[in-house]
Amino acid sequence: MKRPVLKLSLSLLLLAGCAPTALIPASAHVTPAAVAASPALDPAMERRIAAIVAGMTLEQKVGQMTQPDVRYITPDEVRQYYIGTVLNGGGAWPEMDKRSTVADWAAWADAYAEAALATDMTVKIPLLWGTDAVHGHNNVSGATLFPHNIGLGAAHDPDLIERIGRATARQVRATGVTWAFAPTLAVGENRRWGRTYESWSSDPAQVRAYGEAMVRGLQGGLTGDADVLATAKHYLGDGGTFNGVDQGQTRATREELLGRHGAGYLGALDADVQTVMISYSSWYDTAAGRDHGKMHGNRDLIAGVLKDQLGFDGLVVSDWNGIEQVAGCAKDRCAQAVNAGIDVFMVPEDWRAFIANTVADVREGRIPEARIDDAVTRILRVKMRSGLFDRPADASPLTGRAEALNAAALAREAVRKSVVLLKNDNAALPLRAGRKVLVVGASADSLSNQTGGWSLTWQGTENVNADFATGQTLLAALRQALGADNVVYSADGSGVEVSDFDAVVAVLGETPYAEYNGDVRFPTPVQHSLQHPADLAALQAVSGKGAPVVTVLYSGRPAYANDLINLSDAFVAAFLPGTEAAGLADVLVGGAHDFTGRLSFAWPGSACSTGDGPGNLVQFPRGYGLSYAAPAPVGRLPAPATPAACEGPDT
Ligand code: BGC
Ligand code: BGC
Repeated sequence: MKRPVLKLSLSLLLLAGCAPTALIPASAHVTPAAVAASPALDPAMERRIAAIVAGMTLEQKVGQMTQPDVRYITPDEVRQYYIGTVLNGGGAWPEMDKRSTVADWAAWADAYAEAALATDMTVKIPLLWGTDAVHGHNNVSGATLFPHNIGLGAAHDPDLIERIGRATARQVRATGVTWAFAPTLAVGENRRWGRTYESWSSDPAQVRAYGEAMVRGLQGGLTGDADVLATAKHYLGDGGTFNGVDQGQTRATREELLGRHGAGYLGALDADVQTVMISYSSWYDTAAGRDHGKMHGNRDLIAGVLKDQLGFDGLVVSDWNGIEQVAGCAKDRCAQAVNAGIDVFMVPEDWRAFIANTVADVREGRIPEARIDDAVTRILRVKMRSGLFDRPADASPLTGRAEALNAAALAREAVRKSVVLLKNDNAALPLRAGRKVLVVGASADSLSNQTGGWSLTWQGTENVNADFATGQTLLAALRQALGADNVVYSADGSGVEVSDFDAVVAVLGETPYAEYNGDVRFPTPVQHSLQHPADLAALQAVSGKGAPVVTVLYSGRPAYANDLINLSDAFVAAFLPGTEAAGLADVLVGGAHDFTGRLSFAWPGSACSTGDGPGNLVQFPRGYGLSYAAPAPVGRLPAPATPAACEGPDT
């Protein structure tokens, strides 16, 4: 795909940093003609698609555009309604059994795939199945889970990201699925946002480089046995909402919106990403003083910028019931979203009504049939390009293979590279094998806190360690590295004599959340100890009692923690490392592996500082991170009393 003009001008902006307003050349708003004819189109394939579309009824076409959740549709209904794609939302498993095996998954996918090929259409159209494989194939018990994006950002290693993409694609193919709803290309701006951990960085240039690497990793050559389709999401501006409210309003000039939040899409498009998911957020143009409403209804940015100007010729998918938020629309009806350029509609439950309503909207002239034909053409193009018409998904030798879920060595490497050493006074780290270590903190023995949201379930809650069927907690990894006899665990720090130990490891952490459930609502201060007082208590129980204290924090956001840092001799920001805590033990114990992680978001110096921009007190800037090779004392940090409520609004 070639997008000469816009691509170039946006690149210049990104090189120039993240304040593009003054820099964007007028030519950025290219005429559609500049890129309209995509050279990537294969004429023979296009003829084949056109012939299929010409032979389809309106109902069949709308069926192709409809994406139910598998919890709400049977395989036979997929056949009957000519459904084009399905998804398993977070927490949907075969037979609703969380511990289903990979073979169960593959059989489940196969039942739907076969049903789609059993329609009465002249040309049978294979089904696409999409899944949220956002840190590995996270709905599947037994799959290695990688660090969430925020941690991967700290690794600053695009090659690692590409390898994680390859490994994730293998996991997904093992279950008979060929489409991953990843990567998230959000440029997270406000730490209040519950999806901060799905963002790699607050730096658009890093998100662009990572976006390209991850799409390349997931998609490979597109038609291979270990390739899946990637999804660039959530277009556009998901990470920039006012006050960090999930699904909220992104206030920016058009140039800021494109230059900052569009960066990742340029990377993904360079890697030929085949699908793009629309954001729940809305856009308020601060220059024009105009509210453009929800992205799901924004024809200018979807059909205009993404498809016409950037030359995206794959398919655009709506987010879960996302159409219902467009003014005047409902969950099961939104002519505006169809006309805006969305091709596939994630209408998980109300798919039947959506089909009927959309057919009526076409018959009554509210949606041109040409738009429907374009949508179906794009869907068929993506299916053909990914080889589905020639070879069923389950023809991959990975199908049903449990080994393909295992990426433990790679994840361990990723963990090692993604944890950031914020403080290491008096060489409290590394821990030495053979010494006595006391471990405290509820997160030490919790795969749930270690993996965060989007892990086995949507929210990542209601999981016990055994549900993961793989990996190990940090407690287990420390026992292995230090010798089980040398490690004593007391979750709250009670019942132990701290001075009997050579060191204490306190493992603190947020409890899991996904999407809006993770928002810290303005004006509540964003301070870990406020949100998790038991962690503060556990640390207070061991601090200053005669043994150096090493704190490891699991969090989906950089949260103000100066009080916790002051109670600790060493402090490690581990973000949400996933199932392989051995990677953490690698850097904590022995000193053979140094810390190479560097912050990809600024770390706040006050509980009311929530971003990187001016007006925020920053304790540790983006790029900060200590190492054994380059130690530097941190000392006592200022920790004034936190106000009960922040003044603001912040950003
Ligand atoms: C999320 C998407 C996700 C979709 C399907 C939505 O709520 O915003 O990121 O892909 O659900 O689970
Ligand atoms: C699904 C998720 C989805 C969410 C959106 C849940 O029930 O399992 O995948 O993102 O709903 O609200």
